[in-house]
Amino acid sequence: MPEKFLSNLTDGSYRIAAELHQGDDEHSLEVRSPVDGSLVGKMHEFSHDEIDKVFYLTSLGQVDWANSPIDERARILHRVADNLEKYADALTEVLVMEVAKATKDARDEVLRSADFVRHTAEEAKHLVGEAQFSDAFARHNRNKMAISYRVPLGMVLAIPPFNYPINLGLSKIAPALVGGNAVVLKPPSQGSVACAMLAELLWHSGVPHDVFALVTGRGSRIGDYLVQHPAVSMISFTGSTEVGRDLANKAGMVPLLLELGGKDAAIVLSDADLQAAADHIVAGAFAYAGQRCTAVKRVLCSEEVADELVELLGRRIATLAVGDPRDNATVTPLVDPAAAERALSLVDDAVSKGAELLGGGGRRGNLVEPTLLDHVTEEMDVAWVEPFAPVLPVLRVVNAAEAVRISNASEYGLQAALFTRDVDVATQICMRLDVGTVQVNGKTARGPDHFPFLGTKSSGMGVQGVRYSIEAMTRIKAMVINMSDRDLSEIH
Ligand code: NAP
Ligand code: G3P
Repeated sequence: MPEKFLSNLTDGSYRIAAELHQGDDEHSLEVRSPVDGSLVGKMHEFSHDEIDKVFYLTSLGQVDWANSPIDERARILHRVADNLEKYADALTEVLVMEVAKATKDARDEVLRSADFVRHTAEEAKHLVGEAQFSDAFARHNRNKMAISYRVPLGMVLAIPPFNYPINLGLSKIAPALVGGNAVVLKPPSQGSVACAMLAELLWHSGVPHDVFALVTGRGSRIGDYLVQHPAVSMISFTGSTEVGRDLANKAGMVPLLLELGGKDAAIVLSDADLQAAADHIVAGAFAYAGQRCTAVKRVLCSEEVADELVELLGRRIATLAVGDPRDNATVTPLVDPAAAERALSLVDDAVSKGAELLGGGGRRGNLVEPTLLDHVTEEMDVAWVEPFAPVLPVLRVVNAAEAVRISNASEYGLQAALFTRDVDVATQICMRLDVGTVQVNGKTARGPDHFPFLGTKSSGMGVQGVRYSIEAMTRIKAMVINMSDRDLSEIH
């Protein structure tokens, strides 16, 4: 199967991947392109019996995998990275059509994933344990030594979202595999053809079939069965807060790594370099049509400079390329019509409550025009709800304290961007913002991928990033050596 896939990994390759995993039963999953409605693939939807079989086989395979040398697992991951680069064109082609991502961004997703996999392989070689003596604790002698090291959790269930199917797939798969786990990947429905290609690539690179498996199907049909399966030792999920919360309630006592929604604020103070702030904000808000958890989703601007900033934002937005991802547009069609409807209902709500629409607000099919809203207030839904679309609301604030209050009033706590030239103020605000990361004088973003990436409140649980992810997918195993007080002069 992999040979057939790879020999066809040139023109029209994603259709081959789709054929290999094709379903023809009544529940098979039809994947259509948000770009033009064309059929990208028809994927098999796994039954519960098939899922049981996958978990049974991968549970068996995990035992040998966990005992294989880390260096060998790392070598396989290096081959995965090499093949990602080798087949980048084919993977790019499917991402462009399946999730409507601009060609250059789709290619970046693949190449960034190769870098991530390599870095992960190397990081795993340098994980070290520690030794501790008992006499560091009150009323203990030095008669015990604990040696601790990391062991795999067992079976990792990886569930990425549609917006980075390859990259957020591999951000879970690579640390799990190098840590000695088996992995079952449940791809997003929209993104399952790209993930099917990725699966073929992993197997072709040497990841055993009984260590990594792909289970396709709609989350609404097979999700509950997967997350409650007794074979699962850990779940790494990226997606909406709604599904993440539901999953956490159902999964029971397994460790969870949850990367969920966000409502990242860009806070602009009166001393900021406004042109630089506007450039960062527009890039942060509109890349991939705003379909990024880390997108700038609202601006909290000091009222003293708000007119000037809004003017600069408007001018910058006017330069954005809007349209077809194959032409490298920045603002491309949203993933489905419902996403476009949701976004525009937020715009309508804001305008009906007095917000000023300074551009956009229209729609052609799934494509929502880049939209700028000024004079947004806390009474408007767009101040709080994640649009996952190219919609940027500006709220004017009287001072930094009000910006912090509004930022922290969100149910989310992923990131914030802060624009000021005053490092003292930046430090104080950073300490008060309830988010995982504050970006000072830069847009909100996840990478580079070895940085810690996390959210507070409804934005998630646990920390991602190369080393942090490996640690989350392994646990400490301790051995305590109990020493006698024998007299060594009597030992020969
Ligand atoms: P989603 O609807 O929550 O889907 C995410 C994944 O969960 C998909 O693979 C989906 O499969 C699956 N799923 C759906 N229902 C499930 C269930 N009951 N049990 C188990 N899995 C289930 O999110 P999305 O629309 O793909 O992505 C957009 C959201 O993700 C936004 O809220 C965004 O902020 C968030 N996000 C967060 C981060 C972060 O790192 N914090 C990164 C990216 C995206 P199906 O596609 O088959 O339904
Ligand atoms: O939405 C996915 C998330 O992880 C964002 O990544 O690199 O676009 O900031 P990035």
